[in-house]
Amino acid sequence: MSKLKIAVQKSGRLNEDSMKLLKDIGIYIDNGKDQLKASAKGFPVEVFYLRNGDIPQYLKDGVVDAAIIGENVLIEKGNDIKVAEKLGFSTCRVCIAVPKSSTYNSIKELNGKRIATSYPNTVQNFLNENGVNAKLHIINGSVEIAPNIGLADAIVDIVSSGSTLFKNNLKEVEVILKSEAVLAVSPLLSEEKQAILNTIQFRIQSVLKGRQ
Ligand code: PRP
Ligand code: MG
Repeated sequence: MSKLKIAVQKSGRLNEDSMKLLKDIGIYIDNGKDQLKASAKGFPVEVFYLRNGDIPQYLKDGVVDAAIIGENVLIEKGNDIKVAEKLGFSTCRVCIAVPKSSTYNSIKELNGKRIATSYPNTVQNFLNENGVNAKLHIINGSVEIAPNIGLADAIVDIVSSGSTLFKNNLKEVEVILKSEAVLAVSPLLSEEKQAILNTIQFRIQSVLKGRQ
């Protein structure tokens, strides 16, 4: 019998809660952190530990069958990937932030300004919807430093507790979208694997109900 390949974040904020959810639904894995792949005991599932940003492409290509991933990453990179379940953890929002000292009244004020972000597609769509023309600087991490080093006038990044914005003297001025961890599914999923996925989804629904 073929195994369902599930991707989880290798390291980062989703990893721990993702592994806990798998454990709660009875998928036990020897979690050698250096392993990139591990088989579950007594269940036809293999877990792949991958970089967040790579997961949408693996789903599209059918290299993995499903993934536990932040909805924000799917929205940025994963058009046409289905969300099977919202998982209720790792909630955050993708926000525009500007220096605390700056006056900000409307999105229109970002016309001609520089915005640093790791979410260029999400930002560009939002700017287009609002008829704003700005210059994007793509940075892969520590985006909040950009205004302080003179690289950008504003940033777009995920905000959870707000502590990173606070420490960098930034204030949130627009929420572009809200996100949480989701179970995402490859468009190339076979019928055989869909049956395994159905079992997993059923178990997830029971566990999430119990957590409420
Ligand atoms: C993430 C994100 C924000 C921060 C938000 O960064 O990019 O900077 O967390 O969380 P907070 O509102 O609770 O402070 P992360 O620490 O994962 O590092 P990175 O940006 O370098 O990837
Ligand atoms: Mg960050």
